[in-house]
Amino acid sequence: MTKPPVRVAVLVSGGGTNLQALLDAFHTSSLVRIARVISSRAQAGALERARRAGVPTVMLRDPGDAAELLAALGDAQLVVLAGYLKLVPAPVVSRFRGRMINIHPALLPDFGGAGMYGHRVHAAVLASGATESGVTVHLVDEVFDRGEILAQEKVPVLPEDTPESLAARVLEAEHRLLPRVVLELARRIG
Ligand code: GRF
Repeated sequence: MTKPPVRVAVLVSGGGTNLQALLDAFHTSSLVRIARVISSRAQAGALERARRAGVPTVMLRDPGDAAELLAALGDAQLVVLAGYLKLVPAPVVSRFRGRMINIHPALLPDFGGAGMYGHRVHAAVLASGATESGVTVHLVDEVFDRGEILAQEKVPVLPEDTPESLAARVLEAEHRLLPRVVLELARRIG
C-alpha cells in the first residue's frame, strides 16, 4: 500500500521565494505535500503564492501564542521556516523537535541570531571581509539560528559585491538546498 505524502507546513513572513521553490519542487510529488502556509504578517507576499497554488493559508494573530500556532499547524508532520522572522514558542518547538527546520542566508554559526536577517546578514558578511558565504538549513530549537545544522551550501563573496548582489547569489543557493533537505527528511519521516 502506497504511503500518503508527508504533510508539510511552511511558516513565512516575507515575499516567499523559498516557499515558491518548495511549491515548484513538490507540486506533483507523491512523497511531499505542502499542506498549509502560515504567516506572521498579513502583507507577506508568500500568502499570494500559496493562494495561487491552491494551498490553504493561516494568518497568525499572535505568533507568540503557542496554542494558536499548534492549532494552525494541525496535523503537519514536518515544519519549514522559510523567511519566518518570529521566535517559535517553546511548547511548539518541543512538539516538533527534530521535525522543524529553518533556512538562514549565511554559514552558521556565524552571522546568525536575533535581529540577523535579510540585508543585515549580508552587510555583516561583507564587513567581515569573508571570502565565502552561503546558506544553512538547521533544526529549530528555542534560540534563533542555534539548532543542529543539517546542510550548508557555500557561495563565493566577490570583491565588487554589495549586500544586494550577495543576497541574490545566496538566495539561488537557498532555492536549491531547501527542497533537497525537505525531501531527505520526508523520506525519513514518511
Ligand atoms: C531568505 O534569504 C531566507 O534565508 C531568510 O529570509 C529571506 C526570505 O526569503 N530567512 P523569501 O521570503 O523566502 O523570499
